[in-house]
Amino acid sequence: MANTERTIHKGEVVIEARDIVKKYGHLQALKGASLKVYAGEVTALPGDNGAGKSTLVNIICGAIPKTSGQIFCRGQEVEMQSIQYAQQLGIQTVYQDLALAPDLNVPNNIFLGREIIKNSFFGRLFKLLDMKQMANISRAHLADLGIGLKSMTVPVKSLSGGERQALAVAKAVAWCESILIMDEPTAALGARQQALVYSAMRAAADKNLGVLVISHDIPKMLEVADRICIMRQGEVIADLVAKETNLQTVLSLMLTGQAG
Ligand SMILES: Nc1ncnc2c1ncn2[C@@H]1O[C@H](COP(=O)(O)OP(=O)(O)O)[C@@H](O)[C@H]1O
Ligand SMILES: [Mg+2]
Repeated sequence: MANTERTIHKGEVVIEARDIVKKYGHLQALKGASLKVYAGEVTALPGDNGAGKSTLVNIICGAIPKTSGQIFCRGQEVEMQSIQYAQQLGIQTVYQDLALAPDLNVPNNIFLGREIIKNSFFGRLFKLLDMKQMANISRAHLADLGIGLKSMTVPVKSLSGGERQALAVAKAVAWCESILIMDEPTAALGARQQALVYSAMRAAADKNLGVLVISHDIPKMLEVADRICIMRQGEVIADLVAKETNLQTVLSLMLTGQAG
């Protein structure tokens, strides 16, 4: 629903990180990491603990500054000065369900923070909406993403963890214009709850957003993602088509740097 006026085409590179270096004193968290995220694809970013995954996505979404390297947003070089700036460029990040207001209901949560991206379809519509319309739009949007919630009117703190996380994804998708970033979005969830989040992730990519997800669940990523970019020791060492690879290859690359 939010994406009917999107002009991004499937296959377009929505974000490119090129030779990103991040130093913390003597420690090099990133040693020239490069990554492309394509519209219409879920890109999974697996890697061992400490490989630099969170550092790389935090740089892409403006949360921390890089030491050197370049970031291109839809082909144009950008300086990600802040999370707000990244959001203006159409980059939305889901941080567990922290972005939700526990005492507000579903539509109020979806529309909360709307001031950030004024050019999205939702942003333009918002001025014209009353509560009832917001509820209708929210319901249609959730249905569109395959997310069924018990109730739209209860405070979101009474939803399950999986429902809240799926809602956080849905909210990000509603306002997102080009890329959706998730750092271990299902880490705290049970299997059924994870499924809600995976289907929302897939639906976001099917709407031509670029989705970048950090996950330790490699079998699931092989199923849900289109592309697997493997991080190891501060670099992206492989960029694989999910359909053309397998669990053993991915694990071997992650742990040894060799395809096994
Ligand atoms: N704020 C920080 N200060 C110092 N070192 C950091 C900081 N953040 C991350 N690191 C280090 O950078 C490396 C990469 O961390 P991180 O990006 O969190 O890895 P991952 O998400 O792949 O587990 C690790 O060695 C980590 O200890
Ligand atoms: Mg991490």
